[in-house]
Amino acid sequence: AIGPVKKICCIGAGYVGGPTMAMIAHQCHDIEVKVVDINAQRIAQWNSDELPIYEPGLDEIVKGRRDQNLVFTTEVDEAIRDADMIFISVNTPTKTFGVGAGRAANLEFIEKCARKIAEVSIGHKIVVEKSTLPVRTAEAVKAILAEATSGATFDVLSNPEFLAEGTAVDDLLAPDRVLIGGESDAAVQALVEVYAQWVPRERLLTTNLWSSELSKLTANAFLAQRVSSINSISALCEATEADVDEVAMAIGMDSRIGPKFLKASVGFGGSCFQKDILNLVYLCEYFGLPEVADYWQQVVTMNDYQKRRFVHRMVRTMFNTVSDKKIAIWGFAFKKDTNDTRESAAIYVCRDLLLEKARLSIYDPQVTKAQVVANLEAVFKNGDQEISNVSRQLIENNVEVVSDAETAATSAHAIAVLTEWDEFATADFEKIRELMQKPAFVFDGRNTLKSLGLEKLGFDYQGIGFSR
Ligand code: UDX
Ligand code: UDX
Ligand code: ADP
Repeated sequence: AIGPVKKICCIGAGYVGGPTMAMIAHQCHDIEVKVVDINAQRIAQWNSDELPIYEPGLDEIVKGRRDQNLVFTTEVDEAIRDADMIFISVNTPTKTFGVGAGRAANLEFIEKCARKIAEVSIGHKIVVEKSTLPVRTAEAVKAILAEATSGATFDVLSNPEFLAEGTAVDDLLAPDRVLIGGESDAAVQALVEVYAQWVPRERLLTTNLWSSELSKLTANAFLAQRVSSINSISALCEATEADVDEVAMAIGMDSRIGPKFLKASVGFGGSCFQKDILNLVYLCEYFGLPEVADYWQQVVTMNDYQKRRFVHRMVRTMFNTVSDKKIAIWGFAFKKDTNDTRESAAIYVCRDLLLEKARLSIYDPQVTKAQVVANLEAVFKNGDQEISNVSRQLIENNVEVVSDAETAATSAHAIAVLTEWDEFATADFEKIRELMQKPAFVFDGRNTLKSLGLEKLGFDYQGIGFSR
C-alpha cells in the first residue's frame, strides 16, 4: 500500500526543479523536500542570498521555507534513499552529436538519474518524470528501474511542468491544470494529494502515462505555432498597411481562437519552444510520419525567418548599411522578467548585425556582460567547432554591454528593442533623441513603444507588423 507522501527528493535544481519544489515546500509544511544537484555551485547559490535564477516572488518563498522543510544539497544518494517520491527534473538538451543530432533530445541525464535511483533505492519509490521528455521515455525508465538489485520496487509517473519563466511563482500558485499520467492508481493518487493541498481538484487532470508525456511537447508546439502564425501574418501586414495588433485583436475575440499568445514579435525564444518542436519533429520521423514532421518543422522555419527579417528591415531602412554604426540593443533576455537568454531572439539579431559590422551597445536589466559574450561566442561557433579568430575579434571590438538604456542609446544611430521590459516604455525619449544621431531610428521588436507617439518626438519609429 502507498501511504501519503512524507519525503520528496527532486533531482535537478534548475529552472523547473527549484521553483516547483519551493512551491511544494511552501504549500505542504508536513512534507520534507530535498532538492539535489551534482552541480555544487548551483546548490551553493540556492543556499545563498543570491538565488541562481531571477523570478518575481521566488526569493520570499525559498527563503521562507529553506532549512525548514526545503533543503538544497549535493548529497544525492542519501536524499534518494530517504524519499518516498523522487522527481526527475534534469535537463534534456537537444543532442549535439550522433543520431538525431540537432533535433532529438539527449536523454543521457534522465537515464543516469534512473540508474542512480535503481542503485541506491530501498523499499518502494514513486518516480516522477518532471523534465520535458519524448513520449515513451517512461518505458526506458521502467526498464532500468526493473533491474534494481536491492529488491526496491517502483511506480513511474509523468507530471510535466507547464510554468513559464518570469511568471513561475504565479503559474505554480494557480496552474491552469496539473497533469499526472501513470499506470498505478495508488501512485497517481499519492501525487494528486500533494497538489490538492493548494490546487482545486477540478484542475488536477489524470491521464495515461503516454498522453501525459506527449501533452507537454504538444502544448509547447501549439503555443509556439500561435506565435509563428501571427508572426507570419505580421510580414503580410507590413506589405499591406494592415496592423498585426489589430488583426490579432480581431481574431482573438473569436472564442474558438482566443486572445492569448497572439503577440507578434521579433521571434520566440527560450529553452523550450524550439527544442521541443525539433524533438517532436524527430519523434514523428522516428515513428514514420514525415508529413507530420514537415508540418511542425515549419513553425521553427517561420521563427528563423522572423528573426532574419527584423535585421533585413533595419539594414534596408538605415540606407542599406549599418557598418560602423552604433546600435543600442535594449533587452537581451528571451522575454521580460527573466535573466534567461537561452535561444533569445536577441542572440540571432545581434549576430546578424555584427556580420553587417555594426557596433552594438547592449543593455538588459538582468543579463550580465559575461552572459552576453558567452551567448554570442556560442552562436558564432557553429556547433562544436572552435570560434574563429575573426568572430572573436568582432565580438571583442564591436560589442559593449552597458548598465542603462540611455548610455546604450548615446550617439547611437538606432535603438533595437528586443525584450519587452517595462522600463523601456517609461524612458525619457525627448532626452534620448537628443543623445542619438539623426535620423534617430527605433526598431521595436516587441511593439512595446508603439503607443508612445515616438514619430511626433522626431524618431523614425518602426515596429513589427505595421507600417506608418
Ligand atoms: C467556418 C468558420 O468557422 C466560420 O467562422 C466562417 O464564417 C465560415 O467558415 P463552417 O465552414 O461553416 O465555418 O464550419 P466550421 O464549424 O468552422 O467547421 C469547418 C470544418 O472543420 C467542418 O468540416 C468541421 O467538421 C471541421 N472541424 C471543426 C473539425 O474537424 N474539428 C474541429 O475541432 C472543428
Ligand atoms: C514556455 C511555455 O509557455 C511553458 O508552458 C512551458 O512550460 C515552457 O515553455 P517560456 O519559454 O518560459 O514558457 O515562455 P513563454 O511565455 O511561453 O514565451 C516563449 C517565447 O515566446 C518568448 O520569447 C516570448 O517573448 C515569445 N512570445 C510569447 C511571443 O513572441 N508572443 C506571444 O504572444 C507569446
Ligand atoms: P530545467 O530548465 O529543465 O530545469 P536546468 O538546466 O535549469 O534545466 O536544470 C537542470 C539541473 O539538473 C542542472 O542544475 C544539472 O546540474 C542537474 N543535473 C543534471 N544531471 C544530474 C544528475 N545526474 N544528478 C543530479 N543533478 C543533475
